[in-house]
Amino acid sequence: MTDTPAALWTRLEAIAFPTLAQLFAAPDRLAHYATTLDLPGGPIRFDWSKTHLHPEAEAILALVAEAQGFAEKRRQLFDGDLINNTEGRAAEHTAQRGVGAPASVVEAEALHERMQGLVEAIHEGVFGEIRSLIHIGIGGSALGPALAIDALTRDGARVAVHVVSNIDGCALEAAMKACDPATTMIALASKTFTTTETMTNAASALDWLRAGGVEDPYGRVIALTAAPDKAVEWGVDDTRVLPFAESVGGRYSLWSSIGFPIALALGYDGFTEFLAGAAAIDLHFLETPIASNVVVRAAFADLIYTQALRCQTRAVFAYDERLALLPDYLQQLEMESNGKSVMADGTPLTRPSAPVTWGGVGTDAQHAVFQLLHQGTHLIPVDFLAVKIPGHDLDPLHHKILLSNCFAQGAALMAGKASDDGARAYPGNRPSATMLVDDLNPASLGALIAFHEHRTFVSAAMLGINPFDQFGVELGKAIAKQIDAGGGEGFDPSTEALLASAAIG
Ligand code: F6P
Repeated sequence: MTDTPAALWTRLEAIAFPTLAQLFAAPDRLAHYATTLDLPGGPIRFDWSKTHLHPEAEAILALVAEAQGFAEKRRQLFDGDLINNTEGRAAEHTAQRGVGAPASVVEAEALHERMQGLVEAIHEGVFGEIRSLIHIGIGGSALGPALAIDALTRDGARVAVHVVSNIDGCALEAAMKACDPATTMIALASKTFTTTETMTNAASALDWLRAGGVEDPYGRVIALTAAPDKAVEWGVDDTRVLPFAESVGGRYSLWSSIGFPIALALGYDGFTEFLAGAAAIDLHFLETPIASNVVVRAAFADLIYTQALRCQTRAVFAYDERLALLPDYLQQLEMESNGKSVMADGTPLTRPSAPVTWGGVGTDAQHAVFQLLHQGTHLIPVDFLAVKIPGHDLDPLHHKILLSNCFAQGAALMAGKASDDGARAYPGNRPSATMLVDDLNPASLGALIAFHEHRTFVSAAMLGINPFDQFGVELGKAIAKQIDAGGGEGFDPSTEALLASAAIG
């Protein structure tokens, strides 16, 4: 009789994990757990050797995968089946990259062509001289574009993009101060075209254009949405509505027209490369056997830490300023996808769900939070990301010091250091994985993001949860709307007092 997932998780928990030093006694460990993939944007090395992955744990995890129907779920993902069962939808972000159900790929290509037309029209001056774009969106409609723009346009952009998400007017005001209404377009990015923050910021942006002397402010607006009718109803001309499929989830949407600012800033060819980098990871994930699949391997390590060693957080440190927004992006991807308490069939999840994703940039974080990583009582698996080719023209010494610090941290976490003086002792045996990218470019960034999307999917599949809904965000929104509508009564005494004190109840 085959074991149930519950019995297999119990077996995983029962493993007495060898230390990392003991695991490295196996001569082929590095060769087995560090893999370099040749990808369209250049090689990326995925080194998972300094994690507690080992054959016994992997064998159990492979059985969990079998018991949870992982291979079938992966097929369903790429075939466009309705795997987002609670919302009755497919999750077709890979079709945006050309890997998916043929009809969905064709539809995505047609919508991309429409987007390309508009991008090129703006570049060619059809809308007059356009120097800036204020991209208004939130969550999945902002984090991906913000990451890509920050990572890829530090040397300049065809059009300067300012991403505004927060309802706090300070955010929009900062973008307005940096732009001239005469040469600025506005992108309204919202899958639903109903999100309060985005619609409120949109109205203020229109006012700003109007006050700045733009005769037809609506003529400067482009809508990026899966609800094109709503955008037209709001006032955007149909020719400037760039739709995307309902089956593309918000936090997976930067490959669709939500990526418009990326294409506008880089040029459309850059966006095509971004998609190609992601597609290469799609194919690796889809076609590579579990044992050598870098995506599955990363997820297996994640599951060792959450399920067997009960780690509650995981940390991501980008040793590259250009990737400073990656931890923010991953927080939504991982926590909104897998922060669940029920399984896809609605029954309680009896295992820990997603860990808290957090992180920052190296070397800054070394001087702030690494103390706890090295000597704190929490066990925190760490991901390091570094890029071989520097993103600047300064003395190469900067990059040498940056990379040597990155690698030193992984080595120190693993090796530790004994001392008779407890305060100066490092326990070691603390895990890390390192992704070493040759060159940061649209294709390699696309690959990195797709790698994390699928890694998140594998964890969900292994736990039996649906990573594609996010009902947990609704309750707070509904209460805020109730307060805004003047119905803010009947709350707990603390909330009542806060409302009264701020005079907004
Ligand atoms: O509230 C969460 C959320 O629905 C995210 O899932 C989504 O990315 C974000 O809000 C923005 O939604 P929309 O693109 O519909 O404006």
